[in-house]
Amino acid sequence: MCGIFAYYGPKKNAPKLVIEGLKKLEYRGYDSWGIAYKIPNDIIIHKKIGKISDVKIKDLNPAQSNISIGHSRWATHGGVTQKNAHPHFTENKEIVLVHNGILENYLTIKKDLIKKGHKFISETDTEVIAHLIEEYCKKHSFEDSVKLAIKEMEGRYAIVVMKKDENEIIAARKGSPLIIGVGENKNEYFIASDIPAFLAYTNKVIYLDDNQLAFINNKKTSFFDIEENAHIQKRKVQIDWDIESAEKGQFPHFMIKEITEQKDTLSRAINQDPKIIERVANEIKKAYGTYLVGCGTAGKVCMVGEYLFAKIAKKHINFKFGSEFRSQKNFLTNKSLMIAVSQSGETADTLEAIEIAKQKGVKIVAIVNAENSSIARMADIVIPIKAGIEKAVASTKATTSQLAILTLLAYACNGGINEGKQLLISTASQINDMLNPRYEQHIMKLAKKIKDVESMYIIGRNANYPIALEAAIKLQEVSYIHAEGFAGGELKHGPIALISKNTPVIVLVENNEYRNEILSNAIEVKARGGYIIGVSPIKEEVFDFWIKVPDTGDSYPIVNIIPVQILAYQLAVLRKNNPDMPRNLAKSVTVK
Ligand code: AGP
Ligand code: GLU
Repeated sequence: MCGIFAYYGPKKNAPKLVIEGLKKLEYRGYDSWGIAYKIPNDIIIHKKIGKISDVKIKDLNPAQSNISIGHSRWATHGGVTQKNAHPHFTENKEIVLVHNGILENYLTIKKDLIKKGHKFISETDTEVIAHLIEEYCKKHSFEDSVKLAIKEMEGRYAIVVMKKDENEIIAARKGSPLIIGVGENKNEYFIASDIPAFLAYTNKVIYLDDNQLAFINNKKTSFFDIEENAHIQKRKVQIDWDIESAEKGQFPHFMIKEITEQKDTLSRAINQDPKIIERVANEIKKAYGTYLVGCGTAGKVCMVGEYLFAKIAKKHINFKFGSEFRSQKNFLTNKSLMIAVSQSGETADTLEAIEIAKQKGVKIVAIVNAENSSIARMADIVIPIKAGIEKAVASTKATTSQLAILTLLAYACNGGINEGKQLLISTASQINDMLNPRYEQHIMKLAKKIKDVESMYIIGRNANYPIALEAAIKLQEVSYIHAEGFAGGELKHGPIALISKNTPVIVLVENNEYRNEILSNAIEVKARGGYIIGVSPIKEEVFDFWIKVPDTGDSYPIVNIIPVQILAYQLAVLRKNNPDMPRNLAKSVTVK
């Protein structure tokens, strides 16, 4: 959660650069924001509740400065107030810092610091870090104090710190992303939670790894590894992302841009090195237990994977949400395999599951969009989904690309990688035909009809069951309508009591052995007054509203979710919600 951006270099407009950088990171957290910048002998701080995108630099009118740090928050500890917004500081603004993540042992440290006379003004865990560093500074240098504080800190975090009387920025990470962009000018650095924030200035980056610190100053910028207790050399890498893909272009929102991009993203996803796909398929075949692990939408993708492997590869694969994986630890051995699925590659719950698995010698495969993310770097084998930057909080294009990779893997397990590829190529071309303005206008008729409902339900059988769960997440996230997904057969065991006159129920239908059964479930709902929205290749009598999807065979989960993505987007817009930044959420969930 949260966006961090900092600048150190020769440019004198550092506060402006930080504000602009934070605006590009707002999708990571957006309940409040703040910046701090150095002027001779002092540090100036501005912080406020609300969105950084509303800030105009001329209203802020900052003084000239070449060192600045900033933060766009997703609150974990303490409400959304100006006091709790970052940067946090100590009395006299001796130490000023921004923080992403959670300091798990903050209460113990805080109590100790209070005994030593420290006074706290916020409810955050972050403020404790500032005071802890200050306490060490009484006896140690600034750099050593940050090192000592970090040794005491438990949890996942990324921090960027300044000190009033030092011409230096210190950055450190453990479990939360922090990337250093190396500017064109001598001694120029951009520090950010994600690359798009500084892509306009540089595409040369240094990835900080866990337990590493960067000391950025005008003498010699250096890196330190806490575990090795030594200075280390870090490699500069050139990345080939383009700026346009990180911008909205002619689209009103990232969400609809990313939905539309599914015309291409699927083809990119399946354009994989066949050797890697075959290698992973072999690992699955020889593993004593394979676990698909992900969270939220990526978790639902994993659930679809269970069904795909059962049908296509005739193989039993286990699924667990990242946060629930620990329960499996007694079954893990060095012959088990984990396939972690994540768009951002930074989700704390998924990372924790990987850590648990690695301790047992489990081999890790990562299916990720962010190729240099923590999850990718922890994995033994990486399958990049190549969807390009996904900025809207609600995942769309990454979802279908992840589904495509799992479909391909299931086929590869059964010796049919080429057959799988052909199926997906034809699916991609049918999605290309499907995604057009007429299709969106048709769904808009439905969106206008149901925009004021209180609740809606989605049902599906087989792999359409997890797609129903995913459809519910999409609708909840951006439309804020109460939406729930169920297995079609489960409805009659309880949830059907929720159906009354005109309750919208989306029925996901695939043209296979489950068709008649799910249609029977739709008829049961209709008999209780439900308004039946069919997502189906065939127009069925029971439908009150039909959204046609192509009949693509085993890739039906991919095509069935797309109209619901469009519906969720349209409902959000009609209900005047910002679909890119839904309330209470953040793009990358780097806390447990
Ligand atoms: C998706 O629409 C959600 N915003 C969320 O559930 C997301 O899929 C989840 O947090 C996992 O993220 P990841 O794919 O980056 O690991
Ligand atoms: N735990 C900190 C807070 O609540 C940081 C949260 C974040 O990552 O934005 O302020």
